[in-house]
Amino acid sequence: MRSWLLALPLFASSGLSTLIVRDGSSKVIRVPFSKERIPNNQFDKREPAGKTALQRLDNKDFLFYANVTVGTPPQPIRLHIDTGSSDIWVETANSEICKGAQGRGCEIGGTYDNETSSTAQFVEGEFSIMYVDGQYASGVYAKDTLGIGGVGVKDVQFGIGLKGTGEEGVLGIGFESRQSGVSRGLEPYPGLITQMVNQDLINSRAYSVWLNDLNAAAGEILFGGIDTGKFKGPLATIPLSRRTDIPSPIDFIITLRGLTIENGDGESRVLLNESRAVPALLDTGASFTYLPYDIADQLVQLVGAVTVPEYKGPAVNCTKRSLEGSVNFEFAGTTISVKLRDFIIDATDEPNEDNHILCYFGILGMSEGSVLTLGDTFLRSAYVVYDMDNEAISIGQTIFNSTSTNIMEIGSGPDAVPNATRSPNVDSIQITATDSAGATNTAKATTTGTSPGVSNSATTVLPNISTKFLASFLVSILSLTILL
Ligand SMILES: *[C@@H]1O[C@H](CO)[C@@H](O)[C@H](O)[C@H]1NC(C)=O
Ligand SMILES: *[C@@H]1O[C@H](CO)[C@@H](O)[C@H](O)[C@H]1NC(C)=O
Ligand SMILES: *[C@@H]1O[C@H](CO)[C@@H](O)[C@H](O)[C@H]1NC(C)=O
Ligand SMILES: *[C@@H]1O[C@H](CO)[C@@H](O)[C@H](O)[C@H]1NC(C)=O
Ligand SMILES: *[C@@H]1O[C@H](CO)[C@@H](O)[C@H](O)[C@H]1NC(C)=O
Ligand SMILES: *[C@@H]1O[C@H](CO)[C@@H](O)[C@H](O)[C@H]1NC(C)=O
Ligand SMILES: *[C@@H]1O[C@H](CO)[C@@H](O)[C@H](O)[C@H]1NC(C)=O
Repeated sequence: MRSWLLALPLFASSGLSTLIVRDGSSKVIRVPFSKERIPNNQFDKREPAGKTALQRLDNKDFLFYANVTVGTPPQPIRLHIDTGSSDIWVETANSEICKGAQGRGCEIGGTYDNETSSTAQFVEGEFSIMYVDGQYASGVYAKDTLGIGGVGVKDVQFGIGLKGTGEEGVLGIGFESRQSGVSRGLEPYPGLITQMVNQDLINSRAYSVWLNDLNAAAGEILFGGIDTGKFKGPLATIPLSRRTDIPSPIDFIITLRGLTIENGDGESRVLLNESRAVPALLDTGASFTYLPYDIADQLVQLVGAVTVPEYKGPAVNCTKRSLEGSVNFEFAGTTISVKLRDFIIDATDEPNEDNHILCYFGILGMSEGSVLTLGDTFLRSAYVVYDMDNEAISIGQTIFNSTSTNIMEIGSGPDAVPNATRSPNVDSIQITATDSAGATNTAKATTTGTSPGVSNSATTVLPNISTKFLASFLVSILSLTILL
């Protein structure tokens, strides 16, 4: 998942070591994040001994990293941002993995030492988190000051990883009811965002995410704010779907009410209408977008992609990026349009002999009755506010590579998100845990833990074939199909 192969220099001098004193005029915390591609050869290392890991279907993947500090004086650490899990955990120099050769002292991500922090607090209990893809971390809990976006948030609880599979920690910012301890019968503790509110750093538990273009190196999270320079028009506010057996939403699931495909001439075809409205999980941790099989198949055929049985993901000739057209996702009050070319992702890091002929098509099939997953291939085209206090999403069409910035505070109360409009009389679909009409086991399964990065629904067991092998296999399949 996290890789030391992509060596970055350690936080050399950076402004991280000084926490900026805020003037109190703007209660927004701005956190830029970098995107990094995960190399394919991670696969061998990820397999936990003795069992087959559930690996993500899309092994060409991106993770999002933020620079934070922990402790006093601040110790710089970079963490993988994850909206799908709800615990923060950090590496420590004496963890198994950092001491081992593979972790190389965890020098890229950085480590935390509670003994040299004057604000470290002891927290009773064992920390343990298991992600859907088989990654895990376990150790102890701690509390300390967390520096993020130039602000020091005091008394933030997190795990210190002593054992585990990854060399870099995670910044989980999902619902508190999703904390790993909750599944072990513990009461939820106040998470980072709750502490930001408690300490009057932001007004309410809401943050916005701008993933930006696939090829842009960075994106941005604003805790407690939105940036109207990064999206078109007003945002549409959509209530989160609830599960019938749990009083409050625990995932960012909204209702997808329609789906159309439009060609370059503006002609469109309906793929899904309101009569087949489905719940859809917004998941920055999933790289691809998962639609019902029949619809995914239509799109796969349309772009001339090929489904490879062993791989279960569609492969496509990268030259298909020249296709005009878009897929339009309709929600209550807004439509997010995703250009077909934005679904086409390079399958290899290095150009192969034919110079990147091999790409993935970022739409996969899911069985009917599941909660769909709208991952990064969709989310990059959207500007999304995750409003936990109001149990809603506010969403609008992104502006790629926008350099304009106009940051506005999110207030508190029902209409806290500025520039957002709530559609009247729109109910979200309820998700039942037992009923087969609507989402079933996927939603249920996701309550057992979401991976940094992976939705349950989006995982499958992959053979450990090498990249090279895979690439040549796909190329031969592509050529074969083209011959046929
Ligand atoms: C994190 O810090 C490193 C080292 O100072 C820097 O190169 C990188 O750009 C920073 N990343 C972000 C997202 O700010
Ligand atoms: C400091 O961290 C270690 C694990 O690295 C843990 O065993 C110890 O209890 C912690 N001390 C405090 C005061 O939290
Ligand atoms: C955004 O910027 C990246 C990196 O400079 C570039 O590759 C990409 O084409 C840009 N996207 C758009 C939509 O202009
Ligand atoms: C919605 O789509 C179904 C087919 O999936 C079709 O039978 C029905 O007429 C459509 N409804 C509307 C309002 O277009
Ligand atoms: C956002 O809201 C502010 C204040 O309500 C308003 O002045 C501004 O025009 C709005 N901007 C957009 C893009 O809707
Ligand atoms: C998969 O891994 C196993 C054990 O590491 C190895 O024996 C096998 O040859 C590998 N298969 C492929 C196709 O690389
Ligand atoms: C991809 O498409 C280009 C342009 O149509 C073609 O020249 C090339 O042979 C194709 N590659 C494969 C592997 O089919």
